[in-house]
Amino acid sequence: MPAFDYRNGFYHVEDLDLRELAEQFGTPAFIYSESAIREAYHHFELAFADQPHLICYSVKANSNLSILQLLASMGSGFDIVSGGELTRVLKAGGSPKKIVFSGVGKTQEEISQALSIGIHCFNIESEEELTKIEKIASALGIVAPISLRVNPDVDPKTHPYISTGLKQSKFGIPTETALRLYQQADQSAALNIIGMNCHIGSQITELAPFTDALIKLLELADALTQKGIFMEHIDIGGGMAVQYQNEDSVAIADLAEAITELMSGRPQKILLEPGRSLVANAGILLTQVIYVKENSGQNFAIIDAAMNDFIRPALYKAWHNVLPIIQFAEERPEREYEVVGPICESGDFLAKQRRLKIRSGDLLSIQSAGAYGFTMSSNYNSRGRSAEVLVKGTHAKEIRRRESIEDQMRLESNPSFDSGY
Ligand code: LLP
Repeated sequence: MPAFDYRNGFYHVEDLDLRELAEQFGTPAFIYSESAIREAYHHFELAFADQPHLICYSVKANSNLSILQLLASMGSGFDIVSGGELTRVLKAGGSPKKIVFSGVGKTQEEISQALSIGIHCFNIESEEELTKIEKIASALGIVAPISLRVNPDVDPKTHPYISTGLKQSKFGIPTETALRLYQQADQSAALNIIGMNCHIGSQITELAPFTDALIKLLELADALTQKGIFMEHIDIGGGMAVQYQNEDSVAIADLAEAITELMSGRPQKILLEPGRSLVANAGILLTQVIYVKENSGQNFAIIDAAMNDFIRPALYKAWHNVLPIIQFAEERPEREYEVVGPICESGDFLAKQRRLKIRSGDLLSIQSAGAYGFTMSSNYNSRGRSAEVLVKGTHAKEIRRRESIEDQMRLESNPSFDSGY
């Protein structure tokens, strides 16, 4: 049974009616299905069963502690990009030995923190970062486990903001430079080369960019083997597409098959860093229509969720399906709407040109909002960030309460006590 579906004319998540959840937790609220996350994770595990592998969930997609705890309990590793994400993973019970640390700008503090904790690997993005990690590791008397993020120069054919594997991007290290840096790292007593990694982009709908990138990495790994430098793992990053509308999504089974074939006879373990493909379709954003209005022939549905809650449509022109919670709202007139938020920006839209049968007070579900939804939300217009709710069968747990205005102001100085500068 799908995790989100209409039952008796009303949209449900697992065994719960979303109208009840709106009443209990208010709107807007991110609602996640535990079984959908479990299923997506098992799908990966099953597909890669014939190949030594480790799934390192990319925390940036959804970093709620309960979601991390759920994935950790299933054995997942984690791909992190900050000290904050590291702290979250540890708090959620993630194993340090299954953490890879990505990102182009790791700071001294973050590197020291990760070294002392004993993470699995640093995914290094530049020569300066390599030198810095070596220096900090030497000073701490710790050997740093490292991988170089190789930029394989393949076109993932996705949105330019989320393409990362092209030569001109800020990410990774060109192959020729990586060859030199690996040899340099091999000479250091403070560095232990354990892998090679790449990440070429996000929402990649084709198989070829993944296999092209892996082939380039394996060529480099072979060149290094010739020089006596060996890898324990090859990390192909994340980026597996999901279906938002009717675009292709990467069939994980096909990807696994292609990778297993390319890896056959090789000793290395495969690491993967999926984010979106584990959580995007396991979540929705539940919202209520505040007003409907018509301006010179254009209909607007003004909802209580906005670009601060869910920025993907405004930022990437991303398409997300919008479903009414009432399936057959016959008495409502059907019109084409711009579905917009209350924020004072014309770019504050969640969906454009949608035919909907709605009136004010109705509840809507913005689909596929489990990844890069809450994690990219902000307090713009002093709006408190949404509640997050995790559903399992007939149980709903508020895994993050709605932010109050007091929460927002807590870190600011109080003007009534502060007499100035
Ligand atoms: N590994 C690295 C090094 C990454 O930079 C990313 C995503 C991932 C893994 C996970 O990629 P995924 O499997 O989720 O595609 N905010 C954008 C997506 C930005 C992705 C950034 N890096 C969006 O909403 O589409």
